[in-house]
Amino acid sequence: MIGRLLMVPLLAGIVTAAALPSPATAADAAAGKTKAKKCRNCHGIDGIAKIPIAPHIAGESAIYLQVQMKAFRSGKRTHEIMSVVAKDLSDEDIADLAAWYSSIKFKVEMPAE
Ligand code: HEC
Repeated sequence: MIGRLLMVPLLAGIVTAAALPSPATAADAAAGKTKAKKCRNCHGIDGIAKIPIAPHIAGESAIYLQVQMKAFRSGKRTHEIMSVVAKDLSDEDIADLAAWYSSIKFKVEMPAE
């Protein structure tokens, strides 16, 4: 069972990579890691949240991360912190940040029953 659960994020990553259209500017995970310094106090450079109100974003699909950041930027999704953070992000920043955080792999451990 645990093995199957671990496969889900792995497969999601593969599918995402295959399904992404080639964007005008290729997403640069290394640049995203540098840009993630702005995010570290809350989400960590490693995508594991450092404060209780922030979500873990490590290993989320690049598409999901981009859609959420763009939704904060456009005002479709609002949050007192993220709406401010996202306002200053360019499309390239969003693509790079999504490439970085989606490239992080993690393992889950189920609680003992
Ligand atoms: C001061 C803390 C803080 C900083 C800095 C911050 N975030 Fe957030 N972020 C949050 C919180 C809190 C939420 C949850 C928003 C909500 O509840 O809707 C969030 C949500 C998100 C989400 C949506 C996650 C999901 O599961 O839907 C993404 C993506 C995200 N942040 C990316 C970033 C990126 C990239 C940066 C850096 C450029 C950043 N954030 C900087 C606090 C922060």
